[in-house]
Amino acid sequence: MPTSTDVFAKAREHERLEQLKVARELDALPFFRVLEGPTLPVAEMEGKPRIMLGSNNYLGLTGDERVKQGALDALNRYGTGLTGSRFLNGTIELHLELERELAEWLGTEAALVFTTGHQANIGALGTLLGPADTVVADSGDHASILDGCLLSRAKLRPFRHNRVDRLERTLEKASEDGGGILVVVDGVFSMEGDLAPLPEIAERCSRFGARLMVDEAHALGVLGARGAGTCELMGVEDRADLRMATFSKSLASCGGVIAGPSDVIEFLRIQSRPFMFTASAAPAALGAALAAVRICRSAEGPALFDRVLGNARYLHDGLRELGFKVVEPTSLPDGTEVVTPVVPVVVGDDWKAVFLWKALYEAGVYVNVAIHPAVPPSGALLRTSVMASHDRATLDRALELFAEAKRVFESEHGPLPAPAGASEPASLSGAAQTSDGRKNTL
Ligand SMILES: Cc1ncc(COP(=O)(O)O)c(C=O)c1O
Repeated sequence: MPTSTDVFAKAREHERLEQLKVARELDALPFFRVLEGPTLPVAEMEGKPRIMLGSNNYLGLTGDERVKQGALDALNRYGTGLTGSRFLNGTIELHLELERELAEWLGTEAALVFTTGHQANIGALGTLLGPADTVVADSGDHASILDGCLLSRAKLRPFRHNRVDRLERTLEKASEDGGGILVVVDGVFSMEGDLAPLPEIAERCSRFGARLMVDEAHALGVLGARGAGTCELMGVEDRADLRMATFSKSLASCGGVIAGPSDVIEFLRIQSRPFMFTASAAPAALGAALAAVRICRSAEGPALFDRVLGNARYLHDGLRELGFKVVEPTSLPDGTEVVTPVVPVVVGDDWKAVFLWKALYEAGVYVNVAIHPAVPPSGALLRTSVMASHDRATLDRALELFAEAKRVFESEHGPLPAPAGASEPASLSGAAQTSDGRKNTL
């Protein structure tokens, strides 16, 4: 008997349809806006220059002549695409050079380059974990981590965002599950910009015999004296068993990497389905990433890391002074405060976030919007982010436009959340997941 259920029904009935319709009618949809030129500090979008505070181009290297030349050289030598997987005809010398350089930079025995960071996470987690294992993940972890956990069919035990006491209790339970245990956290959380307390997490991992994997997507090329990420900054490089990073942020390209012990990397090379059964990256993406890695590792690197972090602090303090509720900096055990290039403004209500976004966009500033399920219900954010190449005049102009947008917005919609004595990162509620346990951050 034919089924009466149409698998397409959900496309016609889902909960967001009405909201999307209204947002489109009001020309207030903050997603899929069209960029018409390079991601520079001021970018051309939909016919107008807009201050770009919504990219992950942290070091501003997408417009760097050496990075562009790296892409062009690769294009000219290898053509537009490799038309095959790394496993078969899709490996070129640029992959091997990148793997050598990334392993050296991160101080690991080996590294494996994937076509995207999402694939690196699902390719590592989905292969190393099996149904007999347990994976312990922070509730604020990136969607690709959650996807990898689900793919693996390991027992997933989430713990409340950045709560080491909860991690400890979760590890106690996990140690009774009977299989191997992997703890996986973002080094810098993608929406809130706060850092994982890695020394405490690493201590709990060794106490419970668990392996530790750290996603350095937002930290590579930003944190640590070498720019090697959160593990370097917090002095736990020798205690993180696996490190993941992407080329789609500081490295101004597209691709991903898993770095760790040689035997594990070799296992992934011949077993990881998201590595083996997809096309290799376009050569230009590899050439650009390699050039960006070399800039980060040159004498120029630390100045770039300083510049992006200085800009982040400047924007964070400026927004706070204007009365916006910004996520508080992370304090390290030595008392140092870290403001990462992700500088979120907490708005709370989804529609208010959309209307504030629209006021900013019309005034000439582009920022990202994070609404549920990317963040917990009532935890909507404007996710702003800076580049090393933003100059102070541009940031000052952005702050002026923020002040103006706030004034107009509040006169129409009422007050925005004010900076509290201690504002709480949005994911602290631990609810930053969809009903199927997946978090949809970008
Ligand atoms: C923390 C984190 N991990 C992984 C990824 C996936 O990386 P990619 O964009 O290279 O697929 C992202 C990208 O947004 C991210 O923010």
